[in-house]
Amino acid sequence: MNHIARVALAALGAATLAGCAGNKPQTAMQEGDPFATASFQSILHHDFTSKGQAKVSRLKQTPTQYECSRYDALGTAMPASVAQGIESRALSRVVYPADGQYLGNWKAGLKVAENGKGMQWSDKPGSVNGGNCLACHHMIANDPSQGTIGPDLYHYARLRGNTPAVLKYTWARIYDSAAFNACSFMPPFGAHRILTEQQMKDVMALLMNPDSPVNQ
Ligand code: HEC
Repeated sequence: MNHIARVALAALGAATLAGCAGNKPQTAMQEGDPFATASFQSILHHDFTSKGQAKVSRLKQTPTQYECSRYDALGTAMPASVAQGIESRALSRVVYPADGQYLGNWKAGLKVAENGKGMQWSDKPGSVNGGNCLACHHMIANDPSQGTIGPDLYHYARLRGNTPAVLKYTWARIYDSAAFNACSFMPPFGAHRILTEQQMKDVMALLMNPDSPVNQ
């Protein structure tokens, strides 16, 4: 949802800019805030309505989403210092498992990876969210419905091993991918409380366990 909101905002931002590309410069934009223009805000509130648990308030961007929309989505490269700031802030906020155990049950993890439900207007508030990993990643053999937005994760642990460093990196990636790529398209599963700690352990096991279909 966050990613979708960001893309939607980016698209709207671009439309607004195109619509205003005449001789009259946009004062608010010149002040550095392309999303504060009256026309942008009016399109936003005209086109989006609250439905179920998907409230219009979700369109309020986090500081990271704001920076990514402001630079990447509007066609200006993000300055390295801004990207580094986002990444180091995200990394410093990663919460690692309190008991030091990174690995849960890979079978439960496969269900999380396959489940694309949760947090949408049509989902019951409070129902269990999925991680939808397969929508973006190829992870298992013989399943034609896997996405290619993210890198191929098939044979993840077979290729990288399961050293403490790999476990820690993978946990942080899933917790908040912006810790490594400021404007990552991968949802911040831990930081935005999309998945529980147990669900994150289960998808970790899916990636790491030698018996899991990811490593067959
Ligand atoms: C909306 C698409 C999307 C979803 C859903 C998604 N990812 Fe990702 N993932 C990405 C992208 C894109 C990258 C590439 C890194 C980057 O630039 O953010 C990535 C990177 C990763 C990496 C790092 C790979 C490497 O080479 O180091 C891991 C591990 C990972 N994802 C695991 C998961 C797991 C587990 C789930 C489900 C809980 C998941 N992803 C869901 C898009 C997604």
